[in-house]
Amino acid sequence: MKRVLKSLPRRRRSLLVLPVVAILVWALLPVESFTHPPRFFLDLTSVLDKSSGDVLRYIDPLIGTVNGGHVFPGPTLPYGMAKPVADVDNRGEAAAGFVSDDSRILGFSHLHDSGTGGSPSLGNFPLFPHPGCPEDDFTQCKYTSVQRALKRIEGSAVARTGYFSIGLNNSVYAEMTATEHAALYRFNFPSKAEVYSDGFMVPNSPLILLDLVDLGNTRSGGDIEVNATSGRIKGGGKFRPSFGTGQYEAFFCADFTGAEIRNTGTFQHMNATNETKALGNVVSDYTIPFGSAGAWIHFARAPRDHIMARVGVSFMSADQACANAEREVPDFDFGRAVKGIEAAWRAKLSVVSPDQGGMSKDLLTTFWSGLYRAMLSPQDYTGENPLWNSDEPYFDSFYCIWDSFRAQHPLLTIVDPAAQVRMVRSLIDTYKHEGKLPDCRMSFSKGYTQGGSNADVVLADAFVKNLTDGAVNWNLAYEAVVSDAEVEPRDWSVQGRGGLESWHKLGYIPFDDDDRNGTGPMSRSVSRTVEYAYDDFAIALMARGLGLQADASKYVARARNWRNLFNAEQADQYRDGMGKVRSTEFRGFMQPRYRNGTWRYQNTRLCSPVHEPHKCYFDTQYDTYEGSPWLYTFYVPQDMAGLIGAVGGPKAFVDRLDFFHEAGINYMGNEPNFLPTYQFHYGGRPGRSAYWVHRYIPGQFNASVAGIPGNDDCAMGAFAAFAFMGFFPVAGQDVYLVTPPLFRAVSLRTPSGRPATIRNVGFDPAYERIYVQSARLDGKPYNRSWITHDFFVNGGTLELVLGKEESDWGTRDEDLPPSLSTSADWLGGDA
Ligand SMILES: *[C@@H]1O[C@H](CO)[C@@H](O)[C@H](O)[C@H]1NC(C)=O
Ligand SMILES: *[C@@H]1O[C@H](CO)[C@@H](O)[C@H](O)[C@H]1NC(C)=O
Ligand SMILES: *[C@@H]1O[C@H](CO)[C@@H](O)[C@H](O)[C@H]1NC(C)=O
Ligand SMILES: *[C@@H]1O[C@H](CO)[C@@H](O)[C@H](O)[C@H]1NC(C)=O
Ligand SMILES: *[C@@H]1O[C@H](CO)[C@@H](O)[C@H](O)[C@H]1NC(C)=O
Ligand SMILES: *[C@@H]1O[C@H](CO)[C@@H](O)[C@H](O)[C@H]1NC(C)=O
Ligand SMILES: *[C@@H]1O[C@H](CO)[C@@H](O)[C@H](O)[C@H]1NC(C)=O
Ligand SMILES: *[C@@H]1O[C@H](CO)[C@@H](O)[C@H](O)[C@H]1NC(C)=O
Ligand SMILES: *[C@@H]1O[C@H](CO)[C@@H](O)[C@H](O)[C@H]1NC(C)=O
Repeated sequence: MKRVLKSLPRRRRSLLVLPVVAILVWALLPVESFTHPPRFFLDLTSVLDKSSGDVLRYIDPLIGTVNGGHVFPGPTLPYGMAKPVADVDNRGEAAAGFVSDDSRILGFSHLHDSGTGGSPSLGNFPLFPHPGCPEDDFTQCKYTSVQRALKRIEGSAVARTGYFSIGLNNSVYAEMTATEHAALYRFNFPSKAEVYSDGFMVPNSPLILLDLVDLGNTRSGGDIEVNATSGRIKGGGKFRPSFGTGQYEAFFCADFTGAEIRNTGTFQHMNATNETKALGNVVSDYTIPFGSAGAWIHFARAPRDHIMARVGVSFMSADQACANAEREVPDFDFGRAVKGIEAAWRAKLSVVSPDQGGMSKDLLTTFWSGLYRAMLSPQDYTGENPLWNSDEPYFDSFYCIWDSFRAQHPLLTIVDPAAQVRMVRSLIDTYKHEGKLPDCRMSFSKGYTQGGSNADVVLADAFVKNLTDGAVNWNLAYEAVVSDAEVEPRDWSVQGRGGLESWHKLGYIPFDDDDRNGTGPMSRSVSRTVEYAYDDFAIALMARGLGLQADASKYVARARNWRNLFNAEQADQYRDGMGKVRSTEFRGFMQPRYRNGTWRYQNTRLCSPVHEPHKCYFDTQYDTYEGSPWLYTFYVPQDMAGLIGAVGGPKAFVDRLDFFHEAGINYMGNEPNFLPTYQFHYGGRPGRSAYWVHRYIPGQFNASVAGIPGNDDCAMGAFAAFAFMGFFPVAGQDVYLVTPPLFRAVSLRTPSGRPATIRNVGFDPAYERIYVQSARLDGKPYNRSWITHDFFVNGGTLELVLGKEESDWGTRDEDLPPSLSTSADWLGGDA
């Protein structure tokens, strides 16, 4: 997903922030800043496992921290709730807190999302360390986020699995790690009586403040208190979600160790006092005004030159935040928390065993970092849900399913099926308590629906892959998807579908829809139509599996509705550089239509990189969402054979798809553009899919800080991971399209214990031989260009013999992946 309402210019920066640079910059630091490398560098080396087999060497969390990736680069467990990192004041880019540029640091906060569009998310309760206050007077320290914002030491950011650190231009070096529900910080100060702080010399006597603000400055109300004896600061506030409606409450509990407390107090905006130790409803019915407000502790010089801060977080209460911190980090043991995160990631990533021979470090880093990012969100908030009581798991930050259903959830289905089952159960439980499945959900709030009700596809995908684990209530799941298809909610901007009366009667969403059952943004009629059609196909697959044949027939019929917006006469017209109207050979595009059946025109290239790319965000007036009619014309995953017929046959289709990529109409920074990289398979040209995979990796997905082409959404990494492993899912179907792995070979652990191995025969690390000549599955010739999920359940060995030219492998009709109009048995004879 992309930005909400504003179309900001995309920033392209290529600041390479590598540990090596950090160490170099370190050596050049002014002597007065530090007389010795602070402790954290020693700790960093002690946690590095230098053995070449350690996959953590290949995880660079800073990839995608510029160029719109919006990646969270701080320490976190897989799907972890606590996600501490430095927050910066670059509002356009700081959706996840940190950006690898020269923006200023506002503090260090403990909750974040990763890779999202929308406005900055979470970032509540930042801590900010001052090494001392001018004239040793606490009122002279800077309190508000605007005042205290500070430059970083250039190139000082270090990010590793489980660890993040950065130097501020006030002589403080901040290190951080995390557990499930707590962040742990170590603030390092110079070993001197007087220290440099942002232009002044101050006595070494640190003041650490905790501000109730969040990244988006959405707080209303809140409470905070500081205990002058123990130094514990706890409280909470009410905030707004970053791409949704309503409000949520969050709580924290901070404890400190490492120096004596000299003084404590609170602040509101610029005013600090030590007379008041609490603010908000804890003390009176007084409401803390909007903006910076919080509590502070003035410490004596730290005998060991660092102060540790442990911040527990909770969405239930401040007391639960304290309990979380005490349980998970009883002794402030920084190294142990780092090792805990490292071990958790090693275990998660151990499912995949590639043969890495001949591969560059950059390629390996692109793969492993992508796989890693695919497990940052949704976040496991089980036990922290204030909205309903349930024994089911609760995951949040499905942000958004429109982005994640296409690659991320199918990837988790293979590499972490246990987590995917828990996410599916959480979605079904959310339906049970909220009345609808979410399409987008963050911070316990309903997020905006971008197109269809794509949770239907997530559930169908898990269903057709038998991902039950005995724990999924499929009858309730089916009730939920049927509700999406049949019952229009009053507000369909945040759940379900709109225009359902038209959908049922006309078989498309008309441009001039007169929906009176609910309200929502009356735009995107083309993209909603093709998505609703595919969502209904997903429902048909579930109906069929549940033995509901009449339902299956009904939803298969609706799955054919894409045809209603396919205008066979529509030409592809555009203006060339001289303003002259030109057209290509391609005819037949998805177009909007009125209720009375008359076509309406939308430029076929609108909202692609070549024409007005920023006009189709959530506030759009147009008929396609974040993409062009060119793009949405390919969105018929249920019946690519039908589409190929409609556009003039396989050759015309393949030419059209090649043109889409070659002419730059495709934008790989958005998820709907993933599948068209592989749809050559349906035209009998799996080699063209392989060709485009290699154009996009490393051309668009690579190991530089700018190495993600758009918001990561935990999905860009999933796309890359699939591409490296040699297959790509058609989400919702039991279908994976095969291309040669970028590795010599790759093995995946399976539930049966027998590995699923894909091996290239004649592997060429220079990637000149990228075309499959022939294949064998478990020793027998295998002619299909696609495989099914049982390969990842029961294991097996797929060998791909490679050559420099395309071959006839995967070209015969019977070897193509299934389509409604050619696979009669797909839905029990219903096709
Ligand atoms: C820190 O700030 C001072 C001025 O306040 C500036 O002269 C100096 O270059 C800055 N140092 C860094 C590393 O940003
Ligand atoms: C402050 O903390 C001390 C030490 O833990 C405790 O004895 C005291 O009750 C606390 N004060 C308040 C007002 O909670
Ligand atoms: C800060 O203190 C000044 C002077 O006492 C006062 O006028 C102002 O209203 C205070 N501001 C806030 C936000 O409390
Ligand atoms: C406030 O701080 C001053 C020193 O700056 C100290 O003398 C005084 O006792 C403190 N008052 C409280 C209530 O902590
Ligand atoms: C799912 O289970 C059914 C019935 O046991 C079986 O026929 C089907 O092949 C399985 N599908 C997969 C993808 O494992
Ligand atoms: C629209 O509202 C009418 C009247 O309340 C109701 O009968 C009908 O079922 C609704 N249609 C949908 C698709 O929700
Ligand atoms: C259909 O409706 C549109 C918009 O109201 C109108 O411009 C068009 O002329 C109508 N077509 C017919 C055939 O009535
Ligand atoms: C890496 O990916 C980015 C983002 O897609 C792209 O702009 C850049 O050109 C790529 N770099 C290389 C060396 O291909
Ligand atoms: C696979 O293709 C080969 C070569 O075209 C052919 O001889 C063989 O019969 C095919 N096998 C199957 C199972 O269709």
